[in-house]
Amino acid sequence: MRNLVDGKATVVTGGAQGIGEATALRFAEEGADVVVADVDEEGGHGTVDAIEDAGGSAVFVETDVSEAAEVQTMITRCVEEFGGIDVLFNNAGIDGPLENIVEYDEDGFDRVIDVNLKGVWLGLKYGIEAMLADGGGSIISTSSIGGQVAVPEYSGYGASKAGVSLITKSAALEFATEGIRANAIAPGLVETPMVNDIMEENPEMEEQFRNMEPMGGLAQPKEIANSVLFLGSDLASRVTGHTLAVEGGYLSQ
Ligand SMILES: NC(=O)c1ccc[n+]([C@@H]2O[C@H](COP(=O)([O-])OP(=O)(O)OC[C@H]3O[C@@H](n4cnc5c(N)ncnc54)[C@H](O)[C@@H]3O)[C@@H](O)[C@H]2O)c1
Repeated sequence: MRNLVDGKATVVTGGAQGIGEATALRFAEEGADVVVADVDEEGGHGTVDAIEDAGGSAVFVETDVSEAAEVQTMITRCVEEFGGIDVLFNNAGIDGPLENIVEYDEDGFDRVIDVNLKGVWLGLKYGIEAMLADGGGSIISTSSIGGQVAVPEYSGYGASKAGVSLITKSAALEFATEGIRANAIAPGLVETPMVNDIMEENPEMEEQFRNMEPMGGLAQPKEIANSVLFLGSDLASRVTGHTLAVEGGYLSQ
């Protein structure tokens, strides 16, 4: 059987660990050529090595997604290395401060918006420009259930992730006739370094986290990667403008 994303030039931001790493590996397994982009050089090279060890093709491009020039370079490198760009996974993100609005630090608010929202906007801006020159493509951005329901002390994060879903719809509408699809995923709780760090710093939250989703426990990064794979592949050829929640039933309550 043909692989799901054979020969598709794919950029994954935040590819050094967690959901991005799992997605980069999954796309490579299904035949994609992958640009792993991240601020974490060591982790990014680790993902590239894992892909190459499994017989796949990947390069690392050090990128801060909140910097326009670096996002442009990331996209250009994909076109140069792999002859175009077919899929972009705008996934890099940070959780930012964990405080109520009164206590929330203003610089922390700016940073979470810069990385999580502006970073996605820059990816759409330069990714779509390159895809238009290359016959179209599919962009998936990482939102969160925290962008659909308010989580106390996560105002900056929640606003950034709600914004991701909205600009995904903007992009979908603006380029619907030009072969560009734009979708988002909204994970619930996924067992990644981001969530493990929160549970380590706040041990009292672990049990609450593990009981949060009706299906119980935490999602594994690969379960999110498989949903991204669907949206990035031609299986989702008529799907655009959506935020696909991958949250064990949480939003059905
Ligand atoms: N883990 C969860 O439960 C969960 C739930 C919902 C949404 N998300 C979202 O999924 C995405 C991935 O999260 P994760 O859990 O894998 O996190 P993670 O912290 O394990 O990995 C995030 C990666 O992004 C990179 N990164 C951070 N800032 C960057 C920047 N400015 N430019 C480039 N790379 C940068 C980090 O170096 C890291 O490799 C994030 O957008 C996060 O908000 C995660």
